[in-house]
Amino acid sequence: MGKERIKIDFLIHDLKVPLAVVEAGIKSLLTRQDKYGKLTEKQEKVLRRALRNTKITQTLVSDALELGRSREGVVHSISCNISELIRGAFLEIFDLTDDRLSEEIRACPDLSRLKQILLDHGVELRVEENFWDREVCLDEPKVKQIFRNLLNNALKYRRHSVEVEIIEEKGALVLSVSDDGEGIPQEYHQRIFECYFQMNGEGSCPVRGHGLGLAGVMVLVEDMGGTLTLESDQGQGAKFSVKIPLMREC
Ligand SMILES: Nc1ncnc2c1ncn2[C@@H]1O[C@H](COP(=O)(O)OP(=O)(O)OP(=O)(O)O)[C@@H](O)[C@H]1O
Ligand SMILES: [Mg+2]
Repeated sequence: MGKERIKIDFLIHDLKVPLAVVEAGIKSLLTRQDKYGKLTEKQEKVLRRALRNTKITQTLVSDALELGRSREGVVHSISCNISELIRGAFLEIFDLTDDRLSEEIRACPDLSRLKQILLDHGVELRVEENFWDREVCLDEPKVKQIFRNLLNNALKYRRHSVEVEIIEEKGALVLSVSDDGEGIPQEYHQRIFECYFQMNGEGSCPVRGHGLGLAGVMVLVEDMGGTLTLESDQGQGAKFSVKIPLMREC
């Protein structure tokens, strides 16, 4: 790795400690009101917002570090549970956008209830019960980051609904995310994976972003020896499917 790159990654890495201190401080003020003093409703609201934003920053820092690791070809497969991985990714997304929904997901006891909660918010989750409970061996932070990015896009570009399908196929995890939005014309199927490339959302409202998510997804997928396919056309919605080989043992 070049010296410049190490400097940048090291700087990002060193953001973790001060962020953890800020997070712990805000949490103490919120949860130890007996010790630090009673908060007014308004003060509590401000602190909760500050906490959410600290979490956003922490997620961004770990995403940046994960990409750095990936660039160096570092893949760490660990034993993880499909349900925890997928539920965790949903929580990371909704923690930032919809507090109430993330609380509902956190409190949700089983898969069928989770499917219902998500469906009420336009997200259909398709996964078999026995695969949902499976322990698999893969690089969990990378897979979560991939899923989060695809899901974020689908939620951002959908008209009404999003569909997530998780299956096992010939020793690989296949994760598909589709939406019913504007879709992506064939001529852009390569370019959307380039850094900073964004299509002009003609006919649709402009959406914010940096055009980096899919470029990062591609790096992570390739580093794990996986593949990514896109099925989409103008006006037809989009379906992104990633196939990631499952390791036999960790
Ligand atoms: N599900 C989708 N439906 C329609 N267009 C999409 C979809 N996903 C991606 N795109 C197009 O591909 C472009 C690149 O996507 P990418 O995720 O890399 O960037 P972004 O979402 O614009 O920004 P960010 O860096 O925040 O992810 C988007 O700007 C959009 O034009
Ligand atoms: Mg994106």
